[in-house]
Amino acid sequence: MINIDLDISRALEFISKEQIYDFQEVIDKSHQQLLNKTGKGNDFLGWVDLPTSISSSFLDEIQADADRITKKADVFVVIGIGGSYLGARAVIESLQHQFASFQNSDRPKIIYAGQNISEDYMTDLMDVLDNQEYAITVISKSGTTTEPALAFRIIKNHLEEKYGKKEAAERIIAITDEHKGALKILADKEGYKTYVVPDDVGGRYSVLTPVGLLPIAVAGFNIHQLVKGAVEMENFNKTNADIQKNPMALYAATRNALYQSGKTTEIMVNYLPTLYYMTEWWKQLYGESEGKENKGIFPAGVSNTTDLHSMGQYIQEGIRNIFETVISVEKSKRKLEIPMDKEDLDGLNYLKGKSITEVNYNAELGTVLAHVDGGVPNLRISIPELNEENLGQLIYFYEFACGLSGYILDVNPFDQPGVEAYKKNMFALLGKPGFEEETKAIRTRV
Ligand code: PA5
Repeated sequence: MINIDLDISRALEFISKEQIYDFQEVIDKSHQQLLNKTGKGNDFLGWVDLPTSISSSFLDEIQADADRITKKADVFVVIGIGGSYLGARAVIESLQHQFASFQNSDRPKIIYAGQNISEDYMTDLMDVLDNQEYAITVISKSGTTTEPALAFRIIKNHLEEKYGKKEAAERIIAITDEHKGALKILADKEGYKTYVVPDDVGGRYSVLTPVGLLPIAVAGFNIHQLVKGAVEMENFNKTNADIQKNPMALYAATRNALYQSGKTTEIMVNYLPTLYYMTEWWKQLYGESEGKENKGIFPAGVSNTTDLHSMGQYIQEGIRNIFETVISVEKSKRKLEIPMDKEDLDGLNYLKGKSITEVNYNAELGTVLAHVDGGVPNLRISIPELNEENLGQLIYFYEFACGLSGYILDVNPFDQPGVEAYKKNMFALLGKPGFEEETKAIRTRV
């Protein structure tokens, strides 16, 4: 059963159903190209049938490693950047206690490194690790990305000083390419437990490989249920490319109809702080997949109601090139009723007996109506509640819709050539061996 629903009724003041259904032909073709792995970037389409190809015994192996780590460590450091950490963080933060660092739990606390080059971040992290029993995973498909490689070098030294080389090796799990890359060579030499990022799955589509599954399992969440949800969405999608029946096709078609009508920015809006990293993951998925060849919808994110007090003004009255997609969760995990107050000095007794979720829902609805009045079309993705199965469905929903949407735009949604530009300059500025010519050239500019 599919639990994800997409409502586009509040976009229909801005575009017609016909404009959306006009994409049916290209959707049919793209759907087939994705399933048969014949379209652009087809060597990176392993994620399309990944959920149904994951065996239960493979999940058990990941779970066994997660349990082994749990016995040794109170803290688990996930080292990675971009697609090598955002998916795991999105799922973990959607599900975990929001003040996890203050909670007693039988699972390790998850912290992240290798997603910035801040000296203060690294030294603060070392302060924490000095006093904790910890283990790490280092995740890099290429095995050569500077940010995680730097963090790993520093944390590995710390770990070896703290536990000795042999025990440190027991506390490191590497997730990387099967054959190549500096991390693969290092992991083999040091004898680390290693998981493979499949050749045909790019970073931002890798959350359902060990890249996402290991940290999620260490955090104590049910990876069997997560994959089950993704399998349900994969199976539903296989036989159905009809825009009127398949929400992935509907999402891809509607956002492209809006794009063609001049709405070049999409804001993913959540009303739960737990979804902040799900939005970050979505931003990477869509931004890196579509933003190329001078095309693509700019993916932005806001967390409401927080950002109504910062970004709300712009969304209501700024340049009218925006549409919004609200991700709406129907049921909260926990309940809290607004109490009655005898004196009612704050004037809130009109809310007494209501749940916080009811107030939040009305904030969401009121905002959507205001934004539609202000010229911002609205799409609404709803999920009944945040749990592993529904998140698995949502992940596959976003991934497949992204593939379709990229094909509608006629770009290769599975490469990221533009990411290399900053790396080349940074290496040239730092004098990396092999970049001598670039170093000479860039020094004339700075
Ligand atoms: O989606 C992608 O391919 C990228 O965002 C990568 O995940 C990111 O650049 C990290 O790369 P790597 O896993 O090779 O270190």
